[in-house]
Amino acid sequence: MTTRRRLATLTTALASTLAATGASAVEVNLVSGATGNAIAIYTELVKPWEEATGNTVTIVPMPSSTTDQFAQYRLWLAAQNPDIDVYTVDVIWAPQLADNFVDLTEAASEVIPEHFPSIIESQTVDGKLVALPFFTDAPALYYRKDLLDKHGASVPATWEEMTTTAQGIQDAERGEGNGDLWGYVFQGNAYEGLTCNALEWIKSFGGGQVIDADGTISVYNDNAVKALETARGWVGTISPPGVLSYTEEESRGVWQTGNAVFMRNWPYAYALGNSGDSPVKDKFDVAPLPSAGGDTTSAATLGGWNIAVSKYSPNQEAAISLALYMASAEFQKQHALMGAQLPTIIALYDDPDIAAQQPIIPRWKEIFLNAVPRPSAPTKVSYNEVSSKFWTAVHQTLAGNGSAAENLEILEIDLDDMKGGGW
Ligand code: GLC
Repeated sequence: MTTRRRLATLTTALASTLAATGASAVEVNLVSGATGNAIAIYTELVKPWEEATGNTVTIVPMPSSTTDQFAQYRLWLAAQNPDIDVYTVDVIWAPQLADNFVDLTEAASEVIPEHFPSIIESQTVDGKLVALPFFTDAPALYYRKDLLDKHGASVPATWEEMTTTAQGIQDAERGEGNGDLWGYVFQGNAYEGLTCNALEWIKSFGGGQVIDADGTISVYNDNAVKALETARGWVGTISPPGVLSYTEEESRGVWQTGNAVFMRNWPYAYALGNSGDSPVKDKFDVAPLPSAGGDTTSAATLGGWNIAVSKYSPNQEAAISLALYMASAEFQKQHALMGAQLPTIIALYDDPDIAAQQPIIPRWKEIFLNAVPRPSAPTKVSYNEVSSKFWTAVHQTLAGNGSAAENLEILEIDLDDMKGGGW
């Protein structure tokens, strides 16, 4: 059966369920971040569901920054806004937003076993499945094959090698008139993306996970200090000074126009980098992020997005049907093919079409399975505040406002105070 036929079968089944319950066609409002070409992809991929159910989907685009998006979600949910039916939610927000979402355990009972259990667990709060897995995320070190080859450099395994190679190629290329080239771009803005980057630096320097799974605060230590000092050394040398305001899309902008040797970014940038009109098409590949050498190992922060149904939606039945559809293998396969987003459905990692079109996906299965979670589980409803204190301390350090040691010491005292008797 063709994918379109399979979609049609699935959505026909959904449509008859709706018809059987006497529901009439409704407009479902889906809110989503607008990173890369996400909105265009979703607009296309919800069409078979719209056709089969007679319902329409209106996509409400949000800023690309997950931090800005979260702020808007909180306002809407606090006001019990009935206008948004379906929310795409970052993997870290489940404990904070759980009370506003419908329990999907029963509706999804048949499909839950198809997904990675760790993702289902991350979206389960007090026994309630607050969101369905949509895609998972783990970052890569993007590198320019052509530039590494030209300058006789190999793919760096350590941050030190990355720094040296980036600087060497940047200097040589600028000497040849390639004045806009930078060595390394990443996400240095003061937001959740910096928390992801800095957790990777610290963990890969052997400096722990900021807050351990049991809630112990461990961020102020020598290896964490070294990690942040290393990153601070990049700003204005191999990374543009403007990196301090970069989110994913600004980094990709520099990279995709051909102006960076290395970039830290999520898999979505793989699909866009290889798209028809991309100047870096076929000129790059991906590798795991570097480690600090010795007995340290590379660290990738666990990301990902899920689909939740608002308790305040007047169209819950249709909203649940759409959420199930967006979490389905049919949707996720197309999403992987079009956007290189990592599926949450285990079987799709063996899908030959996906492997052929987006080879990063099967390669990234292990990286995702070993990815480091942010401390959203131990800090529960305090996570956003914890993360914002962390990214602020890191941003100050990168900007040269206080040393890494000073900023991390203050942060640890602050987090200890916040924790008090528990999170
Ligand atoms: C990606 C990840 C998400 C993370 C965000 C940070 O969207 O999937 O989990 O919070 O980047 O910018």
